Amino acid sequence: MTPASQIIPGHAASGVGRIRQLVDQMTLAEKAAQMAQVDRGSIEPEEVERLGIGSVLSGGGGNPTPNTPGAWSSMVAEFDQASRTSRLGVPILYGADGVHGHSNVRGATIFPHNIGLAATGDPDLVERVYRATAVEMAATGVRWNFAPTLAVALDPRWGRTYESFGDDPVLVSRLGSAAIRGLHGPTPDDSGAVLACAKHFAGDGGTGWRTVKRPEWIDWWDGWGTEWSIDQGDTRCDEATMRRVHLAPYRSALDAGVLTVMASYSAWNGEKVHGHHGLLTDTLKKEMGFGGLVVSDWLGIDQLDPDPHRSVVLALNAGIDMVMVPFDYRRFIASVVRAVEDDDISLERVDDAVTRILHVKGALRLLDSRTEPPPLSEVGSARHRDLAREAVSSGAVLLVDDGVTLPIRAERLLVAGRGADDIGLQCGGWTIEWTGGVGDITPGTTIVQSLRSLAPALEIHHAVDGLFPIGLTATVGLAVVAEPPYAEGLGDRGDLRLAETDIALVKRLRERVDRLILLIISGRPLLIDAVESLCDTVIAAWLPGSEGSGLADLLLGRRDFTGRIPRPWPGASTRGWERGHGCMTNWH
Ligand code: BGC
Ligand code: BGC
Repeated sequence: MTPASQIIPGHAASGVGRIRQLVDQMTLAEKAAQMAQVDRGSIEPEEVERLGIGSVLSGGGGNPTPNTPGAWSSMVAEFDQASRTSRLGVPILYGADGVHGHSNVRGATIFPHNIGLAATGDPDLVERVYRATAVEMAATGVRWNFAPTLAVALDPRWGRTYESFGDDPVLVSRLGSAAIRGLHGPTPDDSGAVLACAKHFAGDGGTGWRTVKRPEWIDWWDGWGTEWSIDQGDTRCDEATMRRVHLAPYRSALDAGVLTVMASYSAWNGEKVHGHHGLLTDTLKKEMGFGGLVVSDWLGIDQLDPDPHRSVVLALNAGIDMVMVPFDYRRFIASVVRAVEDDDISLERVDDAVTRILHVKGALRLLDSRTEPPPLSEVGSARHRDLAREAVSSGAVLLVDDGVTLPIRAERLLVAGRGADDIGLQCGGWTIEWTGGVGDITPGTTIVQSLRSLAPALEIHHAVDGLFPIGLTATVGLAVVAEPPYAEGLGDRGDLRLAETDIALVKRLRERVDRLILLIISGRPLLIDAVESLCDTVIAAWLPGSEGSGLADLLLGRRDFTGRIPRPWPGASTRGWERGHGCMTNWH
């Protein structure tokens, strides 16, 4: 195996002897505990200390009360301290999904979701965004980010389309590695360095519509309606396609020094990746030379077999090194111990997994003395918000442009739609809560607020439902339509047409204005043919995050549009079709 020291550039090969020594000192149960990643709500710090747990995570919305940067820092510090006073004193890795900023934390800077960053096409910007994200995470003690998503998202009906950098393996590779460089920072021993996690390996973005098989023994899908039509489904393609499309970004990620990879819930030609020895061990570890650790996804191994013990055996033997348990860690530890005693898993496999985990911790200098984290004032700092604003302006795409409507020079502007004044809608899923939320979920600037403060002379009338006082008209109108926030399979949607209420809203506003701008807040292309002929200008704003001011900058001509769609957007008059990879098939 390639030691982690050779993978992170600049990391001296120190600590290898220490790691071997630690592995030798561990009991089998301690090794198993080191391989466990436990949800922070399911374990007390005392148990982390007693057992020597390897990692603790906050899942989406796994927030302390109150949800402040300070409370985050105390929560993580308590778990960290407990691990350092365990028998062997191996510190935990604390993980969270900082997929567009440190996005669980109220008050953090919320950057555009990856699809919006992809529209900037700018690796330098992406690197800076992920650098800022790392600094905000490290300030609260979180040193492992379950990001970036390297999915090559082929079908926009997928609820995770917005988490990806698009459908072009070249763009995904380029921007994915920029994100990794940004998270790691210039040197791994920098206290603001955060481990990247390339996910979800492999083929998560290639699953087919209605290929999701829900194992009958898994009950957490119950009550979630008819969604989950494509997320966690089956990627049906030959090996050459798997390599060319879905594995390509991981090659770049390895070159960029990624040390952790998360397995995908999805299957490849019917076989779940979490149990896929060919993909995890033969391809990723042996052929591609990955020396870091492979972590499973939330309850991911449970889908392998109705018997939880058997699931552990299948996953570890396939090549999973750390298991995002996330709840019943006692059962997990007992399973690993029993499986080794029964010869179902070799001790060498367990030692390899633990060695990888310790190498990764060593690469982050966690095994050395503790370094001071960046100050908490970094979280949501003005500097980071400025960067987010820049990213928002750079990623918005002018889909339709009549050449005269923008920038807004009118004296009066009629604004319609909820999305014009709603931080939650701007942010989308994976913000504060797993599925995001509506309204003032976190501080930021909305489009309407920003227009008001940047153009005080502009007379702005905003009606959420587009119902204005009788007789009120204007030269220019702005309709802001927004997808409701969603995460994962809950966002799988077969019909990507604009909602009827949004169509009605656009029509209502059209009657009162000479020129109409349509601004779309969405995690993916939506079908706008029902209203396209009514609009003079159409803007794709993606999920811009907390800084709506970046959109106001564009509307007022303080910045020029430079964004290009990172994946096809259906509609005859839209520009940028050529940017797409052309993989969109079989959807209407
Ligand atoms: C998602 C992962 C995420 C994990 C932890 C899973 O449901 O698929 O992307 O990192 O949860 O929140
Ligand atoms: C958790 C997420 C996780 C999801 C998975 C949610 O309850 O908060 O982190 O990704 O479940 O299905």
